[in-house]
Amino acid sequence: MKIPCSTLVFTLSVLSLSISISCATSNPILNDFFQCLPKYSNSSYPISEAIFTRENTYFQSVLLSYIRNLRHCTPTTPKPLAIVTAKHESHVQATVMCAKQHGLHMRIRSGGHDYEGLSFISYISNTSYIVLDMFYLREIDVNIADESAWVGSGAIVGELYYSIAEKSKVHAFPGGVCPSVGVGGLFSGGGYGPTMRKFGLTVDNIVDARLVNVNGTILDRKSMGEDLFWAIRGGGGASFGVILSWKIKLLQVPPVVTVFRITKTLDQGAADVLHRLLRMSWIESTLFFSEYAFGTPIKALIKRPTEPPPFFFKGKSDYVKQPIPKEVLKSIFEKMINRYESTHMQWNPYGGRMNEISESETPFPHRAGNLFMIQYWTYWMEKGIESTNKYLNLSRNLYGSMTPYVSKSPREVLHNYRDLDIGSNMLNQTSIEHARVYGRTYFKGNFERLVRVKSAVDPQNFFKHEQSIPPL
Ligand SMILES: Cc1cc2nc3c(=O)[nH]c(=O)nc-3n(C[C@H](O)[C@H](O)[C@H](O)COP(=O)(O)OP(=O)(O)OC[C@H]3O[C@@H](n4cnc5c(N)ncnc54)[C@H](O)[C@@H]3O)c2cc1C
Ligand SMILES: *[C@@H]1O[C@H](CO)[C@@H](O)[C@H](O)[C@H]1NC(C)=O
Ligand SMILES: *[C@@H]1O[C@H](CO)[C@@H](O)[C@H](O)[C@H]1NC(C)=O
Ligand SMILES: *[C@@H]1O[C@H](CO)[C@@H](O)[C@H](O)[C@H]1NC(C)=O
Ligand SMILES: *[C@@H]1O[C@H](CO)[C@@H](O)[C@H](O)[C@H]1NC(C)=O
Ligand SMILES: *[C@@H]1O[C@H](CO)[C@@H](O)[C@H](O)[C@H]1NC(C)=O
Repeated sequence: MKIPCSTLVFTLSVLSLSISISCATSNPILNDFFQCLPKYSNSSYPISEAIFTRENTYFQSVLLSYIRNLRHCTPTTPKPLAIVTAKHESHVQATVMCAKQHGLHMRIRSGGHDYEGLSFISYISNTSYIVLDMFYLREIDVNIADESAWVGSGAIVGELYYSIAEKSKVHAFPGGVCPSVGVGGLFSGGGYGPTMRKFGLTVDNIVDARLVNVNGTILDRKSMGEDLFWAIRGGGGASFGVILSWKIKLLQVPPVVTVFRITKTLDQGAADVLHRLLRMSWIESTLFFSEYAFGTPIKALIKRPTEPPPFFFKGKSDYVKQPIPKEVLKSIFEKMINRYESTHMQWNPYGGRMNEISESETPFPHRAGNLFMIQYWTYWMEKGIESTNKYLNLSRNLYGSMTPYVSKSPREVLHNYRDLDIGSNMLNQTSIEHARVYGRTYFKGNFERLVRVKSAVDPQNFFKHEQSIPPL
């Protein structure tokens, strides 16, 4: 039961999206912000070319290019006043400095896959806001001699895999499954993929990073210090700064790797795991896991979707620490078929390398003691608030019914499968009590250290969103 990489399973239909963009009334804060930007950006790269306001013809297509869920693309979804598509690092610095100076709320978007859309939507107290879009900052520099690479946050993981494969058949990197996912969100939130049990998470293989801090200064691992470098490897980038690029360690793989596929239905005894082995190169395995037909050219990995897929979805996750009895497994299968046919479940095995890394090594706490992670992925095609409520309700009911079989106190959730149901801050001031609820769910004991780092690097709480880490 595997979650589809959105654009592949469903055929793209012509969309008639009804985002109605009303012409912005001239907003004085926004005007001051625009006046400020050129002061801090390199004039060789005019920042005026990177700005899209609601009046601009391309505003809608820029906004839609990195929305991966129709649920975040309805007439009532909050929309930014403007989008800055940074084309140079100084544009990122200028956006941070000017937004801060003029009290303008900012969101950071790389690949736009956030499950709750928090990279381009703000629900905070009806605050007007801008989006800093990172998709142009996607340079990838692979160095086989020292088995490393620098990768821009605006790259997608498919581009990273492709760039590695162009230079070596025996090197790999443990990023995510779906090629279109952005490096900025995936890396800063943890990042898991099919080689997790062999190599650990994405964040276990990052050796340096470059980040724009709240003062607009570019820092690397050395100048940011080990606390901040720790926090951005799994604690979510958007609470701490804008990550420009990451230095990763490449890992050695054999020229031929083995993957397996389970091909059983319930009638055929799916509760007993049976599988078929297949052999291919690592890069081909990345295509296989994202459900491309065997033999698809690897260029498919670098194709960026240009609009949202034609369905709505809601994701949730769980951790399982005790074996689930076979009879219960059967009843779950039956329930999935009879009651929750609009939900896919994906079970990812843990163990291996994941057991060797301590819970506090990075903010990602779900390490030893987990048998597997469950993702619940509910999707629907019907428009309208009633359908949305119906399917959200289904998703919550299924999650509720799994309570006896999953982790408790806290019921752990994968940060990269962001879920606003577990708690949020909808006000301009981030309450630490509310944050502790979702914070412990995502980070367990690491939440308190994340708060200490946040207090040191962003005491005024400029980098915030509905589930960010608050300063003390
Ligand atoms: C189809 C699909 C498949 C997925 N598959 C996997 C998978 O295999 N493995 C896995 O681990 N996860 C997976 N995910 C989850 C994914 O890792 C997260 O949604 C991730 O946050 C997406 O990153 P993004 O850059 O595309 O998203 P965005 O929506 O752009 O960003 C997500 C969050 O990160 C912040 N952020 C983005 N860029 C930066 C930056 N440069 N600096 C600071 N903060 C930043 C945003 O503000 C937001 O809070 C999948 C999601 C989808 C929709
Ligand atoms: C601006 O960019 C140009 C071209 O890359 C570079 O030569 C110049 O040094 C930069 N200016 C500043 C102030 O960084
Ligand atoms: C946000 O706006 C809506 C509609 O204009 C209003 O009903 C609501 O009270 C506002 N919320 C806050 C927190 O200001
Ligand atoms: C949600 O599900 C519960 C439990 O099945 C049901 O009682 C309730 O009526 C549902 N609500 C909606 C809005 O569908
Ligand atoms: C939100 O809080 C920030 C400080 O964190 C403040 O500068 C800003 O004015 C507040 N915005 C609103 C709309 O209250
Ligand atoms: C940002 O600048 C302010 C004012 O100069 C300074 O007090 C603060 O320490 C700086 N913060 C960081 C994280 O560098």
